[in-house]
Amino acid sequence: MALPAHRPVLDYLHRHQERYLDELREFLRIPSISALSAHQADVRRAAEWLGARLARAGIHDVRVDETQGHPVVFAQSSFTAERPTLLVYGHYDVQPVDPLDQWVSPPFEPTVRDSILYARGASDDKGQLFMHLMALEAWLSTGVLPVNLKFLFEGEEEIGSPHLGQYIREHQAELAADVALISDTPMMGEELPSICYALRGLATMEIRVSGPSQDLHSGVYGGTVMNPAQALAHLIDTLYDASGRIAVPGFYDQVDPLSDREQSELSQLPFDSEAYKAQLGVPELAGEPGYTPLERLWARPTLDVNGLWSGFTGEGQKTIIPATAHAKLSCRLVPHQDPERILDLLEAHLQHHCPPGVQLHVTHRSGSPASVTSLDHPAVKAAESAIELVYQRPAVHIRMGGSIPVVSDFQETLSVPTVLLGFALPDECFHAPNEHFHLANFYRGAQTVAIFWEKLGATHA
Ligand code: BES
Ligand code: MN
Ligand code: MN
Repeated sequence: MALPAHRPVLDYLHRHQERYLDELREFLRIPSISALSAHQADVRRAAEWLGARLARAGIHDVRVDETQGHPVVFAQSSFTAERPTLLVYGHYDVQPVDPLDQWVSPPFEPTVRDSILYARGASDDKGQLFMHLMALEAWLSTGVLPVNLKFLFEGEEEIGSPHLGQYIREHQAELAADVALISDTPMMGEELPSICYALRGLATMEIRVSGPSQDLHSGVYGGTVMNPAQALAHLIDTLYDASGRIAVPGFYDQVDPLSDREQSELSQLPFDSEAYKAQLGVPELAGEPGYTPLERLWARPTLDVNGLWSGFTGEGQKTIIPATAHAKLSCRLVPHQDPERILDLLEAHLQHHCPPGVQLHVTHRSGSPASVTSLDHPAVKAAESAIELVYQRPAVHIRMGGSIPVVSDFQETLSVPTVLLGFALPDECFHAPNEHFHLANFYRGAQTVAIFWEKLGATHA
């Protein structure tokens, strides 16, 4: 691979590639699954590993801070008023690994096949987080940091960052920065280095429909009581109209229409529906009518059933009317939609349509709003020139459909905009079996981050 090797910092990154990969493998071996209480000690071990690694890179102030959940790792460089201050965020927790039998190599035994690193967390987000530590060590070993750096690494992103908002409010002064940098998103595609300027938000809820006080024999009682499973199926059906549009009154009220400019920009990005269908194994795409798939993925809100259960699902048959039925729902939100308001609208709609003879219980879970970063920000320009230097081609501007709750906290609490500079690929199996990360992008990502710091430093002079 051709390397723009005229900078000592890039030379350093290049010379230490093998060791960096070994260190990342060590990090990936820690099964820091935030959702599972059995892994609580592992999550802490990952935080401590990170703290120690930051200290070894030579940064002057490192802490592992307690929260009511998993710890936060915070570190900062020495401060110089002439330099801009960059806040780097990443998450060291990972998703559960089931179905385990579908992994080609075990999720916590990192394995390289064809220059691709396979492990849970390889791309989401340990591999991407680690690129920033590589850049840090490379800068501290070869020159003077071009920016003031603050690192904030959390262990609860994959469970919705329930304690990070409070941490940020309590450490507001310490976290002050000019801009934030996160590598936790995919690029548009292979050899399409990307700057992501918008993420969707998320609002989740659980519903329970309860009927008789216990399961009933469907021959003894069938025909006299409302069946909770049937009531739940009906409720879910009322959420969408026949065309696939969400039928909850008010759901789209705050949604901005796509501007002509954005619509035309999105239409110029490569999107191959046939390849997409083949990759996902579906015969047809579905969703809100009147929008292209990219528009629906990135700029339109959605409502999904994430889980649905009731009654007897074991082997054989059991003729019952179940006592309860359950569902987990989530909405991806776009800018200006308020998560709490959306959950209230959803709850009111469900209560209104709940058939007589059963009761509906609704629990609001997490909520975090969508986020947008202005493409005119000087840090975006710095990221563009870093990408051009390393990838030898211009960056594409994309939005993404996923969510990173901290981005709106940075904006709301700290008034800090975020540059999302991710180096994963869209099909690297985030959250799925055989998660992986292309090593070429791992190394170029670290180079791009290092150059980004330099370019950002130059914007302040
Ligand atoms: N790294 C992802 C977010 C992401 C994925 C952004 C793909 C853009 C494209 C992050 O770790 C994640 O999985 N977020 C969760 C958030 C939730 C648990 C609050 C998500 O989007 O479901
Ligand atoms: Mn992530
Ligand atoms: Mn994730």
